[in-house]
Amino acid sequence: MKVRLTINGREREADVEPRKTLLDTLREDFLLVGSHAGCEHGVCGACTVLIDGEPSRSCLMFAVQADGYDITTIEGLAPAPGELSIVQDAFCETHGLQCGYCTSGMILAAHALLERNDAPTRADILEAISGNICRCTGYGQIVEAIEHAADRLRKTNVPRGGRP
Ligand code: FES
Ligand code: FES
Repeated sequence: MKVRLTINGREREADVEPRKTLLDTLREDFLLVGSHAGCEHGVCGACTVLIDGEPSRSCLMFAVQADGYDITTIEGLAPAPGELSIVQDAFCETHGLQCGYCTSGMILAAHALLERNDAPTRADILEAISGNICRCTGYGQIVEAIEHAADRLRKTNVPRGGRP
C-alpha cells in the first residue's frame, strides 16, 4: 500500500506492506535509523517519534495508520546539518547519555515537553519521560539535561556559565 507522510518537514512516500510498523518503515524505507527498536511491544520508548507533535511509540503503529500525519524523528530536531538542537546539546553537556540506545526517545519526549512548557518542574520532567526506559539507568543526568535545556531556552540559549 502507498503511504504518504510528512517526515521532518518533507513529504515522503513509500510502498509498504499493511503489516509493516511505522518504526520499521522509518528505519528501512527512509533510512532514519535514529528511532531504535527495543522491546517492540510498547514498553521501553526507544522507538519514540513525534506524531503531530505528540510523543508516540512507532513500534505500536502500522505505517499505513500514520498516512497523512506529520512525523518528527530525532534526525529532524537539529536546526542544520552538523548542528544540535538545544535539547540535544544539553544532553551532551550534562552527560545525559551513556550507550545512547534510549537517547533519541528521551530527547524527543523532552523536546515535546519543552515545546509546551519551558519551565517544567522536576515532577513534570519525570512524568514526560515516564514512558521511556534507560537501561543504563542514567536518569539523574537525563533529568539534569532537560532542566538545563529548559534553562537555556528561557535565557534564549545562553551557554552554561553565563557568557555575556
Ligand atoms: S521499541 Fe517501541 S516501546 Fe519499545
Ligand atoms: S543511555 Fe543506555 S539505555 Fe539509556
